Amino acid sequence: MASAQFHYQLGVIGGCGHVGLPLALLVASKGKSTLIYDINSQAVGSVRAGRMPFEEDGAAALLERDLAAGTLSCTDDPSELARCQILILIVGTPVDEHLNPSFDAIPRALEKCLPFLSDEQIIILRSTVYPGTSAKVRDWLRERGLETSVAFCPERVAQGHSLREFSELPQIVSAFDERGLEAAKELFGCLTTDLVEMQPMEAELAKLITNAWRYIQFATVNQFYMIAEKNGLDFDRILEGSKHNYPRLASIPAPGFAAGPCLFKDTMQLAAFSQNQFFIGHSAMLVNEGLPAFVVEQLEKKTPLAGKTVGVIGMGFKAETDDPRSSLSYKVKKILNMKARRVLTTDPFVKDSTLVPLEQVLLEADALIIGTPHKQYRGLKGKLRPGVVFMDIWNILG
Ligand SMILES: NC(=O)c1ccc[n+]([C@@H]2O[C@H](COP(=O)([O-])OP(=O)(O)OC[C@H]3O[C@@H](n4cnc5c(N)ncnc54)[C@H](O)[C@@H]3O)[C@@H](O)[C@H]2O)c1
Repeated sequence: MASAQFHYQLGVIGGCGHVGLPLALLVASKGKSTLIYDINSQAVGSVRAGRMPFEEDGAAALLERDLAAGTLSCTDDPSELARCQILILIVGTPVDEHLNPSFDAIPRALEKCLPFLSDEQIIILRSTVYPGTSAKVRDWLRERGLETSVAFCPERVAQGHSLREFSELPQIVSAFDERGLEAAKELFGCLTTDLVEMQPMEAELAKLITNAWRYIQFATVNQFYMIAEKNGLDFDRILEGSKHNYPRLASIPAPGFAAGPCLFKDTMQLAAFSQNQFFIGHSAMLVNEGLPAFVVEQLEKKTPLAGKTVGVIGMGFKAETDDPRSSLSYKVKKILNMKARRVLTTDPFVKDSTLVPLEQVLLEADALIIGTPHKQYRGLKGKLRPGVVFMDIWNILG
């Protein structure tokens, strides 16, 4: 129950986003009165009408249930935030043109909410942030005469699978005072029993390390892939053979485009935090961002691309998502635009007016690159026209 002073137990600022919305849905499904606040009025309208603005496993059904139960509300009016006991802030935190963290997003979001904040509230930061940001937010509030408690509790679930992962993964909780910590523990305690306490700056760094580690793992295997391919060797056979009954290699990922809104920019945030001495992180960036050009180069070895039509199959940043943010399929497309006569792109989930149906790509393309390993592409090999060459780093075609 929210205290008598507050109508909502939770308000989620940026609550129509990829992280904010699943979290709001889950908390509301536990019976806690939850308000979503977002500046994207179109997304607010969609959530209010019971339509998910993007794909997320199991979310559509949960949204319908929460709305029917009356535990979830959605608004683009910041004054409603005054009625929320706990506020979670989860807006995007991009890097800038120098690949340094952009510090504007969080103060900009807070500025709009400021008139509706009070000492009795608790703000939990959940965006992935540059270490020290939570302390800056606390100081920012104090300078404006507010004693609001500040906590930092990073999000570590995988987009698309977050509803399941919330209950399976531990939650890191941190705060500057006991009141903030207790509120965070109570809130996330309704989603998981496994809570890990840290200091705010430790938690901020832990989140960056989590994403940078993943990015480096992908880069490592991608470099192995390039070494094998360059030497005319089948990397999938090498990987499968090496992993077979060999536990020390069990967790090595498969090669593929390491993209999306988080891994790259969080590795760059960590690089900025280490005064650009994070050599492994920067090397990982060069490998992962260099992979599209390598794949095109390999395709070009199979057939000259000048004068040809090339198809890119799959444009989402990872399998089964409709999210094209920072997808390397678009980088492949850019490179191909310089080399081929025509580039056709397709995806069953992504909304992009330049995409064409898969059937058209299969009919008209002389060469293909698999951009995203959506499940439905398995078995596609049998549908390729004779003579069509392809690059399939994911080995989805088999
Ligand atoms: N996407 C992921 O898988 C993931 C996972 C873990 C952490 N994160 C982190 O979570 C944060 C959010 O990522 P996301 O993918 O959900 O971004 P997103 O762009 O999908 O969502 C952000 C939402 O915030 C809203 N917003 C922007 N400015 C606002 C403001 N001033 N007031 C209210 N709402 C505002 C936007 O309209 C949008 O709906 C980032 O820091 C990201 O690094 C993302």
